[in-house]
Amino acid sequence: MVISTVLRKLEGKLAKNVTDIGLIFAVFMLREKLSINKRKPMEALQNRNLTWQQLFSEDEWLHFMARICKPIVEGGQELACIGDMHIAAKLQKLISSKTSLSLYARVSDIDAAFNDIVILEKDPKKVEAIVKALLENSLTMSASVHFKMDVKGCANRSLAKHDIFKNIDFYSSRYNSQEFDNLYEDSLKVVEKKCQVRDAQFLLQALENVRYVDGGIFEFGSYRGHSGWLLSEYCVRKGISKPLRLFDMFSHFPEESLGLDKMWNDTHFVDFEHIKTMFLPYQNVSLVQGDFTETYKKYRNEAIALALVDCDSYRAVDYLLHFMLPSVTEGGIILFEDYGHEPCAGVRIAVDDFVQKNSRNYKSFFCAYSGMFMLIKNTVDGC
Ligand SMILES: C[S@@+](CC[C@H](N)C(=O)[O-])C[C@H]1O[C@@H](n2cnc3c(N)ncnc32)[C@H](O)[C@@H]1O
Repeated sequence: MVISTVLRKLEGKLAKNVTDIGLIFAVFMLREKLSINKRKPMEALQNRNLTWQQLFSEDEWLHFMARICKPIVEGGQELACIGDMHIAAKLQKLISSKTSLSLYARVSDIDAAFNDIVILEKDPKKVEAIVKALLENSLTMSASVHFKMDVKGCANRSLAKHDIFKNIDFYSSRYNSQEFDNLYEDSLKVVEKKCQVRDAQFLLQALENVRYVDGGIFEFGSYRGHSGWLLSEYCVRKGISKPLRLFDMFSHFPEESLGLDKMWNDTHFVDFEHIKTMFLPYQNVSLVQGDFTETYKKYRNEAIALALVDCDSYRAVDYLLHFMLPSVTEGGIILFEDYGHEPCAGVRIAVDDFVQKNSRNYKSFFCAYSGMFMLIKNTVDGC
């Protein structure tokens, strides 16, 4: 009785100590975590491809905007800002330039033409509303638009907070196959990686689903051919005999004049001779070189079972929504690869506008797994 009382007391003491150690450890971990988040914003942003990165704090966002603005004002350009005067004042301080920023509360207040416009707002819905207003205003539509959204703090807050799955744990006996893995690995032996593995999974499932739908496979935006090669090789391996047309400049991104799309100018350089050699073994494949808002006209009478739209710009996506979609067969699928990518606000604006006006004719689906957006053309009876 006496011994057990002593043991219980000791146990209690130990437990208390263990709790203390646990507490100290927890505090240590918290401090570590906090010190990570407290790294200097500029340091944290260095050497990263900023456009595609998520930002962590208000400070980082502001420094990011300053990094965009500084070279513009230092180059002697006048810079228009849309947003709040307090943020503009902080930005002005960070840029530390004598040239003062021209601040406007709303797009409709802008009374002069600018080469560059910066959006001092990070809520995605607000940014997209401003971008839309800029596109619709003849005074602002050609100005390069600069923004950085905080998508993490918006639409998928509950996903980030509550999601317990590691995405690779999802399983389907139909689609988690060695065949897919082999195909993807093989693609990387012949072509530079560009089509991410999640996109490839989504794309090839879509292809499988239109096997019996009339029409060919059309890709708008092929670049160095990764997704095009996956589509071509999948058709061979799975015995799908559909024509496959790949549309691209196959040289560089077309020169864009709309401000929102200007960020793509002078990117996506391609060696067309190499691409031609790569697709030589595939008899069903044709490469259509040039701006497809021109080259597609020749193919408008051809039925489409699957369209992959991977062309980044508002201009091109808006064109395809109006001129390519009528050729899609009922039950056919259209995939918008760039839809979910934060910088591709133009793709979202074009697609969302279209879906709002045409929801009766299409089923629509946003895949958080890959960021792709899918439209399926309804049959006449609406199914
Ligand atoms: C993101 S890349 C495509 C990536 C490709 N699907 C892959 O998996 O490698 C976008 C491509 O679209 C092309 N593009 C964009 N707008 C175009 C247009 N109007 N006409 C032709 N090509 C265009 C660009 O030149 C670029 O090569």
